[in-house]
Amino acid sequence: MTTDVDPRTEKRFERMRPMSRGVSRRVDPADVPAGPTYPALLQSIALMRFRHRWIPRLHRKYGEVFSIRILPEGRWLVVFHRPEHVREIFAGDPEVFHAGKGNAILGPVMGEHSLLLVDSAQHKRARRLLMPAFNGHALRGYASMIEGLAKTEVGSWQDGQGFRSLERMNALTLEVILQVVFGVTDESRLAELRPLVNRTVNVSPAVFLGWGFPRLQRLGPWRRAFENQVALDRVIYAEIAQRRQATDLDSRSDVLSRLLLVRDQDDAPAGEGSGRGLSDEELRDQLVTLLLAGHETTATALAWTLHELGKDPDQERKARDAAVRGDEEYLEAVLKESMRLHPVIPMVVRHLMKPATIGGIELPAGANVAASIILAHSSESSHPDHGVFRPERFLGGEVAANTWIPFGGGVRRCIGAGFSLMEGVAVLREVLATYDVSLPAGAQEQPKVRNITSVPRRGARIVVKRR
Ligand code: HEM
Repeated sequence: MTTDVDPRTEKRFERMRPMSRGVSRRVDPADVPAGPTYPALLQSIALMRFRHRWIPRLHRKYGEVFSIRILPEGRWLVVFHRPEHVREIFAGDPEVFHAGKGNAILGPVMGEHSLLLVDSAQHKRARRLLMPAFNGHALRGYASMIEGLAKTEVGSWQDGQGFRSLERMNALTLEVILQVVFGVTDESRLAELRPLVNRTVNVSPAVFLGWGFPRLQRLGPWRRAFENQVALDRVIYAEIAQRRQATDLDSRSDVLSRLLLVRDQDDAPAGEGSGRGLSDEELRDQLVTLLLAGHETTATALAWTLHELGKDPDQERKARDAAVRGDEEYLEAVLKESMRLHPVIPMVVRHLMKPATIGGIELPAGANVAASIILAHSSESSHPDHGVFRPERFLGGEVAANTWIPFGGGVRRCIGAGFSLMEGVAVLREVLATYDVSLPAGAQEQPKVRNITSVPRRGARIVVKRR
């Protein structure tokens, strides 16, 4: 066991451990729609390992709405996907439809202040503080940094080279998110952060499920994951301490510098313009959340997109022409269509704090409701010829509200949605303006679950040929 543990890391694990074991109230099975009856452990494994086949199979067997039971503690999850039901879930009262509770398993890593974990007033406040770093003005400020990093990455590829695009996209999006979160900083600190963030992203579901049990922390994978957290915290707290001393915060556009300047107006003494700033722990939790949520997700979407383009020379030619003439709208449609066909995240979940009615079904407090992205995106009535890759559907106003939901919705909609689309378009433009992309022989792909994302099983191998 690591001896030199920051007390703040220790405290976080102690406080978050019980939460990560589960928070649901008991629900009577008679109060939720029917679904499979096998044990919660088996259903959880099916959801983690085979969700792309299992969820559609349940839909065929049980109809539009069905319930599954998952770990921890065999909580009930009622799965919806019709646009009118999705709308009701996203528009649900945030005091009743909690999202943070469903993410409690991430607690020991993300921390109790994380935007992903908090609800109600706390969520509103955290969102208000983080939002300025992701509004239109801020996004324009990141554009040239992203372009520069994309150029360096694409410039390092060899003509005729074949490689796993997921690996390269992961490396690139990690650089981008490190810059967004920390700004230009000491290269030696970035070098320390890269492997620590990567290892955190790659923590297995078993390790997450095991956080709740203190004794496991002494064993192999749990001990290594804990030590990685200790090391990651040490670097982040050191960066926070150093940045607190900086005198140029207001001319910096990274998230950390912005967050160091924000003050809670609500807490301000009467007559004074500034209230309390964020504590080191609050800052750490939000920075780690953004590093983890904003990195592999975008890389996965990009890898699937390159796979789809490499597979079909006609689609590749259209996208390449768009890249050359700088048609960002078309490139964005390509990215969106790929995210429709290959949802990066399978579902979004809300925990009901009070009874609620969705689609006319009365559900008890304590149940969880999910909007299934997999089912919403493969619905034939919402997306005719749903198995066909056709970016044009996003150009003609064909895609109706609540049928394309890769970023969730309502007050919890992904805070990085605009950012990741902008980043994705910039990267596609750089790749396609430089290279022809094709697939090596036999490079078919299936989705595989890695952490919570659905990645291309074989890494989306592509071959690039300079034009
Ligand atoms: C293709 C890329 C991405 C996908 C598919 C994705 C997907 C999602 C989804 C499905 C949610 C849950 C929404 C809900 O519950 O309704 C979410 C939330 C979130 N995402 Fe993303 N995301 C992506 C990129 C990013 C990026 C680039 C960042 C940060 C820079 C980010 C940060 C977050 C955060 C902080 C939340 C929690 C928001 C809240 O609870 O208020 N994501 N994302």
